[in-house]
Amino acid sequence: MSGAIDLASGLGGKIEKKEIRSAVDQYEKYHGHFGGDEEARKANYTDMVNKYYDLSTSFYEFGWGESFHFAHRWKGESLRESIKRHEHFLALQLGLKPGMKVLDVGCGIGGPLREIARFSSASVTGLNNNDYQISRGKELNHLAGVHKTCDFLKADFMKMPIADNTFDAIYAIEATCHAPDALGCYKEIFRVLKPGQHFAAYEWCMTDAFDPNNQDHQRIKAEIELGDGLPDIRTTRKCLEALKLAGFEVIWEADLASESPVPWYLPLDTSHFSLSSFRLTSVGRFITKNLVKALEFIGLAPEGSQRVSSFLEKAADGLVEGGRKEIFTPMYFFLARKPLSQS
Ligand SMILES: C[S@@+](CC[C@H](N)C(=O)[O-])C[C@H]1O[C@@H](n2cnc3c(N)ncnc32)[C@H](O)[C@@H]1O
Repeated sequence: MSGAIDLASGLGGKIEKKEIRSAVDQYEKYHGHFGGDEEARKANYTDMVNKYYDLSTSFYEFGWGESFHFAHRWKGESLRESIKRHEHFLALQLGLKPGMKVLDVGCGIGGPLREIARFSSASVTGLNNNDYQISRGKELNHLAGVHKTCDFLKADFMKMPIADNTFDAIYAIEATCHAPDALGCYKEIFRVLKPGQHFAAYEWCMTDAFDPNNQDHQRIKAEIELGDGLPDIRTTRKCLEALKLAGFEVIWEADLASESPVPWYLPLDTSHFSLSSFRLTSVGRFITKNLVKALEFIGLAPEGSQRVSSFLEKAADGLVEGGRKEIFTPMYFFLARKPLSQS
């Protein structure tokens, strides 16, 4: 029950409770289902993404935990184990060592940051443009005891208030998909990374199987964009091209979804049941939906909460369909290096 109360009280993040309904209206209007278009989403990405995370963060924490991402998963591995291993994999690829200064781009409430800091003893700075998530992250860093070596910076990853050549390593987990333009974002990351050092990321992408002329594929893409606060999901090819144009040497890249023995979307698949991730199953989601309805009815959750819960449901359905058809991946991985000399 305390989880449900936390869900209700955190709903809306830093938005005034009485403004939540209109924030939901404004958020929905950015998207194709409600008459919005890609240009407006790109031009207003800060407003759209901040509204999205103010409205959805407490649902994410309730259903998913402190790390807001999917994971490559082995048979016999629990969802939680796979999420941690997916984070450790980044630390290993980046060769993180004690004392290194690392940047987490689009850090959420800092679940990966805390895990990677404890795993590697590196100092991690979480960069995020959402005030509510940063305040949650700071509380959780204190509870985890990593507040002396890890911190947060409230900033836009398209224009970071950070000096050139600052970090020993940089990673981004399922975050730079929110950028209105991948090249602009990768160039900023390139600028603040020290020469000779590495950048690794998991990107949300449409795969080569995505056909832009197929209406069904377009519908699934639009559902994911609406349900996840995205301007336009890029293809893996576009991301790779942007990375090279930004100046990076690509060491290796792969869609890890195609190598995952347990499909990454399984926890959201309504035909699947799991006790350990019960809140994500169809029964768990049905209970959450009705719980939110009841909490909104008695005034414990703000007006508009049910609509947030339903666009998140749409997102889950779009993600599962996109995953099954292999037209979408949340784990296009790359490891890239900023050359020592930029000639
Ligand atoms: C799906 S969440 C992933 C969070 C985190 N990496 C994790 O795995 O738990 C995407 C994150 O990107 C952040 N974000 C989106 N656009 C941003 C921007 N322009 N500048 C900084 N952070 C941004 C959001 O606020 C959110 O925290």
